Amino acid sequence: VPDRDSGPWPAARGPQEAADGGSSGVGSSSGHGPRATGHGLAVAVIGGAGYVGGELLRILALHPHVGRLRAFSESHAGKSWSSAHPALIHLDAGIFEPYDAAAAADRADVLFLALPHGRSQQLMAGLENAPLVVDTAADFRVSDRALYEEHYGAHAAFDLARAFTYGLADVLRGSLAGCHRIAVPGCFATAAALALWPLANAGLLAATPSCFAITGSSGAGVEPKRTTHHPVRGHNFFAYSLGGHRHEAELADRLRAWTAGAIAGCDLLTHSAPLVRGIHATVHARLAAPCSDIQALLRAAYAGCPFVRVLDAPPELAAVVGTNFAHLHGVSRDERRTAIVACAIDNLVKGAAGQAVQSMNLALGFPETAGLEFPGIYPC
Ligand SMILES: NC(=O)c1ccc[n+]([C@@H]2O[C@H](COP(=O)([O-])OP(=O)(O)OC[C@H]3O[C@@H](n4cnc5c(N)ncnc54)[C@H](OP(=O)(O)O)[C@@H]3O)[C@@H](O)[C@H]2O)c1
Repeated sequence: VPDRDSGPWPAARGPQEAADGGSSGVGSSSGHGPRATGHGLAVAVIGGAGYVGGELLRILALHPHVGRLRAFSESHAGKSWSSAHPALIHLDAGIFEPYDAAAAADRADVLFLALPHGRSQQLMAGLENAPLVVDTAADFRVSDRALYEEHYGAHAAFDLARAFTYGLADVLRGSLAGCHRIAVPGCFATAAALALWPLANAGLLAATPSCFAITGSSGAGVEPKRTTHHPVRGHNFFAYSLGGHRHEAELADRLRAWTAGAIAGCDLLTHSAPLVRGIHATVHARLAAPCSDIQALLRAAYAGCPFVRVLDAPPELAAVVGTNFAHLHGVSRDERRTAIVACAIDNLVKGAAGQAVQSMNLALGFPETAGLEFPGIYPC
């Protein structure tokens, strides 16, 4: 990979070319402590000082096909990555560069956007040269304009949404190959959708399902808020957005597509739990026909999926925290006319950065698991 000052950035390479020399790790284009870069993808993270940005850097810095990794931040420009993400100090990695999405796009094979909702739609028109954009925000997740506006209000560039694929990686898998624009699902939506998809795909949903879900405080981002302040959050539990959480929009979009419009959405009952990380979602669904073995249905739906595990007992959050894995367990009740499916994921990895990298792997033809097979820590 050439240095940024030595010539034009390479166009996106095929996986084999990247694989031939892509094991070199991190590089900093600003000359601050770069490592040898060899060959590999040139990757940029916009919003690198946020929580999702930090997880992207942690994963991408050790990704076998990433050769040059840059991170952009306004608040931390000129400072080391570890100034925002202390655990990254061991990577002896890069320096945050001043925010310049267009410059980053010109020189990157892959651009990850990890910005607050609303920013991507303002930026996308200027990023047309970027070969692959993976957006972790909600801006381009919903394909139906009315549905989007009902939950989020006006959109500055909704026409661009057509170019995006909703990157529910464990469902789409190989169909993400060759995608150039990927909208990573939200964290609640990922957990709920992974629980719902096997039921919807089998034509088993009889009515609007509901999903009781909890999140940890890191779901609210790096800026402190009253509801993430430790004295309020640390030993507390409360519901929020019961009138309709925003992630209902993308769930409705998917359910309508999966059921040809028969199921219009999912009631998402969101709760704040005294945790830092994780989403635990329990779906409750009326079935159109009896199903005696929900576990077999789940196992068949995710056969061969490296990151979805169907457990013999209800999942516990601590087993997935920090990982790209989703753990599922399902039962049927009421003479097999009701399904309950529980799903546990990490909000920042499977619910954001990990799924984003998995989508990149699938889009570019790398092994789906590249850079993502690390286990969690337990207890955490
Ligand atoms: N947290 C989660 O669990 C989670 C899960 C799934 C999806 N997401 C989505 O992923 C995106 C990033 O989430 P996050 O939790 O990482 O957020 P975050 O911690 O608040 O970080 C966002 C970053 O964007 C930059 N930023 C903030 N305001 C900005 C503005 N007005 N214009 C440009 N840049 C701005 C900030 O960096 P600088 O000011 O330093 O540039 C900040 O580091 C969001 O859209 C979120 O909804 C989050």
